[in-house]
Formats: sequence, C-alpha cells, structure tokens
Amino acid sequence: MRTHKCGELSTQQLGETVTICGWVHRRRDHGGVIFIDLRDRAGLVQAVVDPDVPETFAIAESVRSEYVLKITGIVRNRPEGTTNPNMHSGQIEILTKDIEVLNESETPPFPVESDIEVNEELRLRYRYIDLRRTVMQEKMRVRRDVTRVLRNFLDANEFFEIETPYLTKATPEGARDYIVPSRTHENAFFALPQSPQLYKQILMVAGMDRYYQVVRCFRDEDLRADRQPEFTQLDIETSFMTEDEIMIIMEEMIRQLFSDVIDVKLDAKFPRMTYQEAVSRYGIDRPDLRIPLELVDIADDMKAVDFKVFSAPANDPKGRVVAMRVPNGGEALSRKDIEDLTKYVSIYGAKGLAYIKVNDLAAGLEGLQSPIVKFAPAEVWASVLAKTGAQTGDLIFFGADKSSIVNEAMGALRVKLGHDLNMLEGEWKPVWVVDFPMFDWDEKAKRYSAIHHPFTAPSCSVEELVANPGSALSRAYDLVLNGTEVGGGSIRINRPAMQQTVFEILGIGEEEAREKFGFLLDALKYGAPPHGGLAFGLDRLVMLMTGSSSIRDVIAFPKTQSAACPLVNAPAVVTDEQLKELGIRLIKPAGKEKAKAE
Ligand code: AMO
Ligand code: AMP
Repeated sequence: MRTHKCGELSTQQLGETVTICGWVHRRRDHGGVIFIDLRDRAGLVQAVVDPDVPETFAIAESVRSEYVLKITGIVRNRPEGTTNPNMHSGQIEILTKDIEVLNESETPPFPVESDIEVNEELRLRYRYIDLRRTVMQEKMRVRRDVTRVLRNFLDANEFFEIETPYLTKATPEGARDYIVPSRTHENAFFALPQSPQLYKQILMVAGMDRYYQVVRCFRDEDLRADRQPEFTQLDIETSFMTEDEIMIIMEEMIRQLFSDVIDVKLDAKFPRMTYQEAVSRYGIDRPDLRIPLELVDIADDMKAVDFKVFSAPANDPKGRVVAMRVPNGGEALSRKDIEDLTKYVSIYGAKGLAYIKVNDLAAGLEGLQSPIVKFAPAEVWASVLAKTGAQTGDLIFFGADKSSIVNEAMGALRVKLGHDLNMLEGEWKPVWVVDFPMFDWDEKAKRYSAIHHPFTAPSCSVEELVANPGSALSRAYDLVLNGTEVGGGSIRINRPAMQQTVFEILGIGEEEAREKFGFLLDALKYGAPPHGGLAFGLDRLVMLMTGSSSIRDVIAFPKTQSAACPLVNAPAVVTDEQLKELGIRLIKPAGKEKAKAE
C-alpha cells in the first residue's frame, strides 16, 4: 500500500515518487496552498497540495484532523527558511500528486498532541486516540525494547520460556484473588494467579533448571500509581543457584537492559543493604538512595527529658524517636513550609513535627530556634546535634511515636523534602535489600503472616525457626530502584518438613495445607532441587525507564483506580442464562436493587 513510512522520509529520497499512509495530524490552508502533516508510527511528514491539480486540491480541502490518507507525491527540498531541524523529515516535503481518503474521522475527543492535559478516564475510554500520541507511541516502543532485551539475555543464558496456566488455584501473594466460576464443575471456582510462584517451583522439581516467563498476574488489591489489578512480571526461577549467584546474574541483566534500551550505565555492582539498616536509616524497606537525608535514632538521649511526646516512645520498646537533618533547611524552609509539612506527616499518623533551626551552632542553646529546646538541657541537644552532624543553617526535624508511625511519616517526609528541595544525587540508584524477617506479627489477627510468601526459605534450621519465628530471617531479596521495588524473590523451601513448619507458624493447619498446597508438599517429596528465583515488575521497570509517573502510562489498556476498563466497559453484568449455567445466584441482581429500594 505504501512505499515509505511518513517519519522516515528525508533528503535521501529527494526526487523520488513515494506513497505514504497515515493520519492527518494538522491541515493548514495558506491561501491557495494546503499543507498536510501526515503522521504514522514513524513520525510526521509535510505534504504540500497545489491548486493546479483541482481534484486533489478539492480532496485536500475536505480532509479533517485524524482522517486516514494515502498520499502519493514527489519528495523535494523545503524552501529556504521553512525547514524544521526538530523533525527527521524536516528538510523535505512531499509535492502531492494524488490523495486517497482511506477513512474519515469524527473530531477526536482530545487533540493528538504529546503535551495535553486531559482527564485520564477520557484518555482510557478513547485509548486508541490516546495511544496515537507520540509520547505514548514512544513508551510502547520502550516497552517492546525492554521485553526484547530481557528475552535475548535470558535465552542466551539458557533459560526456557514456559507458559503456566491462568485458570488455576489460589496463589498467596498477599492480595485478594480474582475468581472464575467453572461451568463444568458445580460450585467450584478457578482463581487467576497472583503470580506463577507454585508452577515455577514445580518446574524446578520437573528438572527445567532455568525458567522465565513474561506473564500476567492478577491481584485484587487497592490500586496506586504503581499497582494494577493485572500487571506483567518478568518471572524467573533457577535450580542449583545461591542467592548470591542469582543476584549477580540478575544485576547483569538489568545493567544490560538499561544500557541497551536507554543508554544508561548502571554501577558495576549494586549495593546491598539489610532490611534492618534500610528501615533504620530511611524508615522504609525500599529506600530512594538518591536522597541524602537520613533518620538518626536519638531515643537514648530522650529517655529522661521533660517532654512526654519524646520520652514516652523513647522508653517504649515499640517506640522510636528520630532526628533528620536537612542541610541548609533553616533558610530553605519557611514557617509556612514547616506547617505544611506538619500537615503532610499527619497523613501518616504523626501527631506533630518538632524541629530545631540551627541558627548558630557555636552559640549553644542561644543559637537554636525551636519550640522544644526548653524541654531538655544543653547537653542533650549537643548530643543530638552531634549525632545528626548538624551545621549552622541546618534544620532538624523530629519524629516520636510507635516505630511504624515514625518510619512511615519520617520516611515519607524524607522523600518529599528530597524532591521539593531538589536534593537528588545521581540519576539511578539501585540497591538490593536483603535479610528480611520471615514473618510479621499481625496484632489484630494474633498470628504471623509471611513477609515475602510462605514458600520462602528461612536462613535457619527448622528447630531454630520453631523456637523463635519472630526473629528469624529469610533468604529473600528485593531489587529497589530509586525508591520503587522493581523486583523481589527468594531461595525457596525445598523440603516438606520445613514447608510444613512454615505453614504451621502461619496458622495453616495440616488439613488446610493439604487442601491448598498438597500438590506442592507432594512434589517436594520427589527430589525437589535447591531452587530460587525472583520476579520483576515489568510495568514498573518501563515506568522508571520512560520517566512516567504511573504504570498506567506504560500499559496499553490499563484499568482505572477503581479497577475498571472504560474502553470496553468492564466489568459488566452477565445474562441470567450464563449465571444459571454456572449455578450462581446474585444477592443483589442488577436492576432489582433499585426496585427493592423504592
Ligand atoms: P512480588 O509479589 O514481590 O513477588 O511481585 C514481584 C514484583 O511485581 C511487581 N508488582 C506489581 N506491579 C504492578 N502492580 C501490582 N499490583 C504489583 N504487585 C507486584 C513489583 C514486585 O517487585 N512470586 C513472587 C516472586 C518470587 O518470589 O519469585 C512475587 O510475585 O515490582
Ligand atoms: P506541643 O508541646 O504539643 O505544642 O509540641 C511541641 C512540638 O512538638 C510541636 O512542634 C509539635 O509539632 C511537635 N510534636 C508533637 N507531637 C510530636 C510527635 N509525635 N513527633 C514529633 N514531633 C511532635
């Protein structure tokens, strides 16, 4: 149909007759001459229509934005002064001989321009228009490149790509399941996988050695900018590799990915940090290491002060008191800024945000400006200032409460200040977070829950685990990039006795374990090799690599915040017939709800 793509034409084709197809990006009538910018995936080219071919000119006059055209013409140089150096085809234009309207278009609901401010619901409803925009085409191109480079790397390293079922049984990754009723098995349901975790482990028992899959995962959970109900993982599992070996090969893959796709050279070795250190220094297990601010524990100094807000958590084993030094913050942050930040941390449950302005470090108490200085003697503040490394001109913020509140509030404050005050150091800061605890104690439910998933191996023996589940560490690792968890995995349990023990600690009794995971417990009895792996959030990687603010922007057809698809209008009601066939009766049938209420 066409000889070239619009955006690829250049002075190389000067004098040639070419045929291109695409969408009318813009049409300009310049008194007697019509210019049409025609657009396809490769970019734009300018076609000129002279009135000396009346039929062609008449067609050009009738076309509107987003009409689909086939244009034949001769490539010529643009007149002097009208070239566009920002466009690949900016030196040339097409002198149009013939135009065929391949299809008309209604006026699009929003312009096909990269920098538009359009309601996201509208963008998603007309996603086919939205995706025509150059920014979106570019994101899809990066996504295509990302999967290609990853696949090439894994193929070269002898990984097999193997597909695992979508219609399956519940796989616990901490979210709710999407379930699918079965017509052929009365009262029974499939669950869509939260991840292929159990299948990939079974593949290792099956001797597949190295597996990967670019795979959709389904999780019914509260959505955020970096969470979708269906998202894509690059899922990986290996046999006979230690966590060290796994992390090293995965680092190599991520380095190659960044280098090949966006020409970024990541560090030769990614740093590793224990979970404990991450939470202690940054308040969070996915620290953004581009931000040079840190939390410093000062509970020891605050145990005896005359300020309950600080002394109570300082003496509580579950409490935490921290200081965070903001270099030159005294000048950068006004009273009003501090008030706003106090409101900001209250979102995370903080009851206040104490601060000290260090006006003159050498002047002792006199040099400190703060509503809280009066509550403690000079030596206490001297010790606190020394611990934070404070200098004249700095501002120190304080957080005191239950550890979880302090970590969340001060961790979030750290990130906010890092961005607001333009403090980011370096562009890309990957870090492996290791030595996670095995379990988290759920105070409400009065039981342990798995921090990674229940198939993660502990770093200790069965006996040690049973004796002290709360302090056991796991052989899990997360890859964190600029404060986003881009991947996570672990060495798995490969012996039935250990797996059974972990189930018991999680409150999953023998019967329930058999019913839910009997197939895994059986498989572990038949020579399950030592194995481990991880999964990367592909959408999150592409989001970071394209500088997008949400994973919705790098997914062709994402769901909204309420987990719906405005394009096809899903989820939707089904017919009574379908329900009957599935043996399902609705508690609140559509339409009847209203009738009942009236
Ligand atoms: P995990 O649950 O940590 O591990 O998921 C792995 C990675 O997937 C991404 N991710 C998500 N991305 C978008 N939307 C979501 N709702 C979402 N949830 C998770 C994150 C995360 O790091 N089976 C294990 C992996 C393993 O142990 O091998 C698993 O799924 O980037
Ligand atoms: P108050 O005496 O209640 O006015 O508090 C004195 C200072 O301590 C104010 O700046 C409050 O914002 C701050 N503050 C109160 N509660 C906390 C807390 N839990 N953590 C940190 N600062 C707090």
